Amino acid sequence: MEQILKIGSLAPTAKNLQPQQIYVLQSAEALNKTDEITPCRYNAPSVLLVCSDKNIAWSDDGYSSYETDACIVATHMILEATNLGVDSIWVRKFNAANVKKVFGLPENIQPVCLISLGYADESYQGNPLHTKRKPLEETVKFM
Ligand SMILES: Cc1cc2nc3c(=O)[nH]c(=O)nc-3n(C[C@H](O)[C@H](O)[C@H](O)COP(=O)(O)O)c2cc1C
Repeated sequence: MEQILKIGSLAPTAKNLQPQQIYVLQSAEALNKTDEITPCRYNAPSVLLVCSDKNIAWSDDGYSSYETDACIVATHMILEATNLGVDSIWVRKFNAANVKKVFGLPENIQPVCLISLGYADESYQGNPLHTKRKPLEETVKFM
């Protein structure tokens, strides 16, 4: 976990303001609360609640980088988890206002995603939804 969090901290963020706030949910109480806010914990023993501080994130001309920054941090952590052999899933099936209420987050702390971390059940066959990829011609245009 330390290594995963450390790699997250190396992520680029706008102006290097590092607005991310990460809550490591591991206690029985925190995991019960997680199950209140999403059906997608999948029995993971650890969940990262990745948030962003809207008061810290870079903003300009009506744009705030708070969500992008936190997503880059989350992506770094997922890649490091994979690197370490830890399975993970990015979860956005939650109501942000409800997350704030359940975890008592201040107004400026915006939940961006959850990352369920653990080891997939040995009987897990994989979900075809997770492996299908569009051909590059559909998603990339050379100009
Ligand atoms: C923004 C975002 C939201 C997602 N939300 C959920 C979710 O709420 N529940 C879930 O089971 N998977 C969720 N996923 C996981 C995707 O379904 C999964 O990443 C995709 O199917 C590709 O599979 P892979 O990550 O195993 O390669 C989400 C992924 C992203 C990027």
